[in-house]
Amino acid sequence: MEREEALDSIKANVENGNLIKHMLATEAIMRALARRFGEDEEEWGLTGLLHDIDVELTEGDMTSHSKLGADLARELGVSETMAHAILCHNEGHGVSRETKLDKTLFCTDPLTGLLTAAALVRPDKKLAALEAKSVKKKFKEKSFAAGANREQIALCSEIGLELDEFIELGLEAMKGIAADLGL
Ligand SMILES: [Fe+2]
Repeated sequence: MEREEALDSIKANVENGNLIKHMLATEAIMRALARRFGEDEEEWGLTGLLHDIDVELTEGDMTSHSKLGADLARELGVSETMAHAILCHNEGHGVSRETKLDKTLFCTDPLTGLLTAAALVRPDKKLAALEAKSVKKKFKEKSFAAGANREQIALCSEIGLELDEFIELGLEAMKGIAADLGL
């Protein structure tokens, strides 16, 4: 499957631009992590890109969210490894995270929200001058971007990363596509 095809399918299924940006941000961080670990960048990037493709179709129904997404991704031709990562990024199905790809998608998903929120509270609302140390401070403020689940982000330990490195790498990855994110 080509990236273009994945993006076309996302645009056909998701209207909300912020949700699409969330998927692009997840892709960018997953690509950076694949490079960091010497894993398959296309596989990891496309998994991140597609992971919430069903988010509007399932209308907040967590019993179907990510099940439908995994099926849609399979129809697009992704591997079972990729479909599994998409499926288990919603814990509601009782499917455990097995592969490094599964674990990486799970901790990366909420990191995008924390980084986006940290950019948006800046006077310029941009990522460019945002520093990792300020994001780390925000990580500790529980009321800040409360939807960005800190315990889930901290599961970067399961892929062998310290929180500091995870935040730094995620921030740099999102800065790399700042224009696409409007940040
Ligand atoms: Fe997500």
